[in-house]
Amino acid sequence: MTTELISDTAGFANSVDLSLPAQVVCGEALDVMRRLPPAAFDAIVTDPPYCSGGTFTTDRTSRSAAEKYVSSDSVQGHMMPDFGGDQRDQRSFTLWCSFWLSEALRVVRPGGTALVFTDWRQLPAVSDALQTAGWRWRGIVVWAKTNARPQPGFCNQSEYVLWASHGQLDRDHKPPYLPGVFTIGSPKGRARKHITAKPLTLMQQLVRSTTERGLILDPFAGSGTTGAAAIMEGRRFFGIEASSTYARLASDVVGKAFAE
Ligand SMILES: C[S@@+](CC[C@H](N)C(=O)[O-])C[C@H]1O[C@@H](n2cnc3c(N)ncnc32)[C@H](O)[C@@H]1O
Repeated sequence: MTTELISDTAGFANSVDLSLPAQVVCGEALDVMRRLPPAAFDAIVTDPPYCSGGTFTTDRTSRSAAEKYVSSDSVQGHMMPDFGGDQRDQRSFTLWCSFWLSEALRVVRPGGTALVFTDWRQLPAVSDALQTAGWRWRGIVVWAKTNARPQPGFCNQSEYVLWASHGQLDRDHKPPYLPGVFTIGSPKGRARKHITAKPLTLMQQLVRSTTERGLILDPFAGSGTTGAAAIMEGRRFFGIEASSTYARLASDVVGKAFAE
């Protein structure tokens, strides 16, 4: 099984087929989402650019994602391409999140769910944007990383996943009982295909909360970890990724997940 990679965003409205098991579109998230039909997805599971990585606004807005998120001990020999969209200041980040989360609400059916990654700095911004967009905020999942860099005082070793629903949850959807804290190291070495790649095992657990055999949207697909997890857990996947290098990689990674 392969994953269809669509590179022509303009022509994609004619070629999109949401009954396919997996598709990745190379394009800008809002632009592509606005072309998608309403209520077509069961869930959005996504890891957007955090626009974080520094105590002050200038730290966050003046450095590239690679400069912010690839630590000096792992930078030597790293071949992962940089990515864009990570330099918004606080106000524009919150506004931008409310735009794409509003589109997400439109394309996810009532009763469907959202899982959105963020870090401690941007948690207030993302939770505001999520609710501004009309999602019903239901809780926070903690991803506790085992390999975070120590620092004086408390180690910032966790990232967060905001969990929300489009109105009431489906009465007949009975997800498994899942923990609220996952202690898993971030991908290292060859397993790290993207500057900010999430662990596949974490994504598999998160995906289990969504409708069985449902269609999952990830508008910031990166190296396709959400997509691989979706396929391995028996869901279908539609990914959007602005970087052509990462979109190709995501298409490969999701395609290989069919053989797992
Ligand atoms: C945090 S990374 C996702 C990493 C992914 N979870 C993984 O495990 O590989 C965010 C991705 O969003 C992409 N991106 C940034 N702005 C975008 C936009 N406006 N539309 C689509 N993709 C965008 C970046 O190129 C980057 O690959």
